[in-house]
Amino acid sequence: MASSTLRSNTWVGGGVLERYADWLPLTESTPCITLGEGSTPLVRAESLERATGADEVWLKLELCNPTGSFKDRGMVVAVAKAVEQGASAVLCASTGNTSASAAAYAARCGLRAFVLVPEGRIAQGKLAQAAAHGARVLAVDGNFDDALRLAQELTDRLPLALVNSVNPYRIEGQKTAAMEIVDSLGDAPDLHCIPVGNAGNITAYWQGYCEYFHAEVSTQRPLMLGVQAEGAAPLVHGRPIAKPETIATAIRIGDPASWDGAIAARDESDGAIIATTDEQILDAYRMLADGEGVFCEPASAASVAGLLAQHGDGSLSGRQVVCTITGHGLKDPERAVQSIAADVVEISSEYDQAAAAIEEGLR
Ligand code: F0G
Repeated sequence: MASSTLRSNTWVGGGVLERYADWLPLTESTPCITLGEGSTPLVRAESLERATGADEVWLKLELCNPTGSFKDRGMVVAVAKAVEQGASAVLCASTGNTSASAAAYAARCGLRAFVLVPEGRIAQGKLAQAAAHGARVLAVDGNFDDALRLAQELTDRLPLALVNSVNPYRIEGQKTAAMEIVDSLGDAPDLHCIPVGNAGNITAYWQGYCEYFHAEVSTQRPLMLGVQAEGAAPLVHGRPIAKPETIATAIRIGDPASWDGAIAARDESDGAIIATTDEQILDAYRMLADGEGVFCEPASAASVAGLLAQHGDGSLSGRQVVCTITGHGLKDPERAVQSIAADVVEISSEYDQAAAAIEEGLR
C-alpha cells in the first residue's frame, strides 16, 4: 500500500509514531500509521495507597489501547517498519494479545497476518480479535515457547516479517509507555511494578526510563519490580521452566525471549523480580475490579499482586508508585465469570421482587 495512503491514518492528538517521533527510529519513508494507540490514562488507586503506605499509587491503564492491551505501542512501530521495508505479511507467536494487535495493525495497513497460538490456552476474546481482523490463526500443539521457536524458524525461511518482541522495533515503540508516565508525572516514579512473561515490556520500560534520564528529561529512574506467576517464573528461579503453568495465560511462558533485558532492568534499577501465586493474582484482579473500577485480565493484576506481596505491610511511606495494567478484562470473560462468582439474582418483572432484591443488596 502506498505510504501516502497510510499517512492519512492520523487522529487528533497523534498516535505513538507522531508523538514520540524524536525518540523512535523513523525515516522519511516510515508510514505514519495509527489506530490511536498511546495517551493511556494514569489514574490514582487510593486503596493501594492505604495498603502500601505510599504517598501515591498510579495505575497506567494500558488496557485502554485500541486492541485492549499494551502491545499496540510496539506493534504500530513494528508494522510501520515492516511496511517501510516492503513486507506483505507479518507473523508472530502469542499468548493472545500480541496476535490481536498484530492482526489489527496488519489489517489497517493491508498486510496479511499469521499468528501462532498455544492450542486451547488463549483467552477467547483474543482469539476472536485475531480472527475478526482476518489473521490466519495456527493453533500449535505446544506452549508459547514452542510457538515462538516455530515463528523464528518460519520467518527465517519464508518472506514474513516477525513481529514478536525479538523484533527491536517492538521494544522501541513499547518504551514510549515509560516516557508517557514521566511526561504525565513530571518525573519518573520511585517504584514501577509490571507483570513479566516474555519480558519485552519490562525491557522496554527500562529503556524508556533510561533514555529520558540520560537526556535529562527526568531526574531519576524507578526501581523496577517485575512480577511473574509462581508456576511460570523462570527469571525468579534463574532457569527456563519446561512446563509453565498459571491461570494467567498471557504470562504462561517458561523461557522469555528478553531474558537478559529483564535481568538488566532488575539489576541496574536495584529492583527485583518476584513470583506471586495464582491466588494472589486473582485477589488483586478482584480487588482492582470491585475496589477501583478497573477490569483487567488476570496477568495484568500480577503487577498489583506483586506490589501488595512486597509492600502490603505499609512500607512505602513517602514513595510514588506506578503499576502497569497491561490488558483488558473483557478479553477473558470465562475467567471473570468463574473467578468473580457472578451473583445474579433471578426475578420476575414485578416491582416487589425487584425491590426486595435491591433492599437485600443495600443491607
Ligand atoms: N500482560 C499481558 C496482558 C500480556 O499479554 C503479556 C504478554 C504480559 C503481561 C507480559 O508482557 O511478555 O512483555 O513480559 N503477552 C504476550 C503475548 C506474550 O503474546 O500477547 P511481556
